[in-house]
Amino acid sequence: MPTPTIASPKGYYFEVKAGQRYLWCSCGRSAKQPFCDNSHVGTEFKPVLFVARKDEDVIFCGCKHTGTAPFCDGAHNNLATYENEDDPNSEANAKVAQVPHGAAAEVPLDGTCYVFSTARATLTPRGEGFAYCPVVSPAKGALFQSQFYVELQPGSSPVVSADGRETVLFVTHGEGEVEIGGRRFAFTQRSGIYVRPGEAWRVHASAPVKLYVSNGPGAEDLVFLDAMPESFDTAHPGRVAEIDPSQRHAMAERSFQMLINREHGSLVITQFIGNIPLSKAMPHKHLYEEALIFLNGAGVVWTENTKTTVGAGDVLFLPRKQTHSVQCTVEGGFDVVGVIYPGDNPSINY
Ligand code: FES
Repeated sequence: MPTPTIASPKGYYFEVKAGQRYLWCSCGRSAKQPFCDNSHVGTEFKPVLFVARKDEDVIFCGCKHTGTAPFCDGAHNNLATYENEDDPNSEANAKVAQVPHGAAAEVPLDGTCYVFSTARATLTPRGEGFAYCPVVSPAKGALFQSQFYVELQPGSSPVVSADGRETVLFVTHGEGEVEIGGRRFAFTQRSGIYVRPGEAWRVHASAPVKLYVSNGPGAEDLVFLDAMPESFDTAHPGRVAEIDPSQRHAMAERSFQMLINREHGSLVITQFIGNIPLSKAMPHKHLYEEALIFLNGAGVVWTENTKTTVGAGDVLFLPRKQTHSVQCTVEGGFDVVGVIYPGDNPSINY
């Protein structure tokens, strides 16, 4: 097959209507992007028909190199012609207002976007050696997910129900075992952990542990139980994901590795770990809601009109369709853990 023309370096956001037919241009020559205008006639390309089953937002591929036609799969990020870096000192960026950190844990940015500092958060104790706080919740503006930050001293945590929600944990410090339905799985610093909706979890920490608990759909609070229920979904036995550099996907100068996703049985909530090098990404948007945990490094998070500094222990909450950009300002880059919902591919953007 010949190489298609790159109609756009990024995807096309579009609101499709149930029952409507859409003929997506695969050749890249159409003047009616992202749709076909018959400019492919005489080439080997043919348009791709999509019939919408429901009203929804989609991102049609604009670079024409997608592997999931007619939709974007993030392939544009790795095209040689794709400009991923933005100049933080440009005239437009000079107008973006710096929001200073105050005493509060949250630093508000545009819309319902914010940065949450776990270092400035007030934790609520629950039982012996267990304390936590909400980072992302419906009350804070999230529509799809919630996230809680937990600190645990060596010993056993209370039993926490998944409460009918997809649940993923990420351990930033410490080690031990996580118990799910009476089964135990060893974890270390930087493990991802998956708990099915009908189950509950408890951590047995052999060293002080810090972790993040994400739920989808979101909840206002963790749900504690008096005892560990027996339920364990044996159809999905793999529950702990470790960092494996061989599983990293390149995304321009950045890279990411899936931790918890559909391979573990999680169909709507996805956890990944990524690296952001010394640079500022081009502003972009996603159709999913995201909570991005900064594990190390230092930098700046940008929205259209505001920006603020971030570092280890901060979490960026990104609502759907929020224009944003993350800038790393130190050598070595940021390591970040993202939880996206609903979605399974963090490289899809527009
Ligand atoms: S114009 Fe591109 S596929 Fe028809």
